[in-house]
Amino acid sequence: MIIHKLEKSDSILNTFIAQLRAKDIQKDAMRFRRNIERIGEVIAYELSKSLHYKVKKIITPLGVKKINLITNNLVICSILRAGLPLHQGLLNYFDAAENAYISAFRRHTNSNEFEIVVEYFASPTLENKTLILADPMLATGNSLVAVYNALLKHGKPKKIHIVAVIGASQGIDFIKKHFPKNTELWIATVDDKLNKKGYIIPGLGDAGDLAFGEKL
Ligand code: URA
Repeated sequence: MIIHKLEKSDSILNTFIAQLRAKDIQKDAMRFRRNIERIGEVIAYELSKSLHYKVKKIITPLGVKKINLITNNLVICSILRAGLPLHQGLLNYFDAAENAYISAFRRHTNSNEFEIVVEYFASPTLENKTLILADPMLATGNSLVAVYNALLKHGKPKKIHIVAVIGASQGIDFIKKHFPKNTELWIATVDDKLNKKGYIIPGLGDAGDLAFGEKL
């Protein structure tokens, strides 16, 4: 797996991440969603540099200009519900992409153990396409792998890009073993630890609840 850690060089991205983490600022759900969306936009721009391009003649009112344009057939797939603002950020830039949505949730078997349940899946064919898989919190990596196995029923993508905001080293090591070798991970920042409940430490808390409110 090729890993792009965007925090490696300082940029305005740090401000968006800091606001997501800060416990007083993150309570503003609109700002929280927008910061995740902004990170999706920054990552989309960086990821776009790795796509394929072909020259096209563009006709302006005054002449013709050759411009290299993306040729990949992109599908953005996100995991409900926390993935929605990240999905929107990616789609703001890759506005010609197709879209897929999948539900994956943690069903707790006891207070510290859970299994990943994948239920709803709406997707175009993925055969030979470039799949961008968006999951803001890459914690254990279990949901990403469960989702990957489920989506293979819709065809084999030519290339997979995983997009995440905060990851745990343990989760990254786990997904490395389960995704094809040429998969690229675009991640804003990485933390060292997971707690017993599978939350990233220091992380930011529950991204879905912060974006959309607490669930039962
Ligand atoms: N999902 C979250 O929302 N937060 C975590 O820390 C881990 C998974």
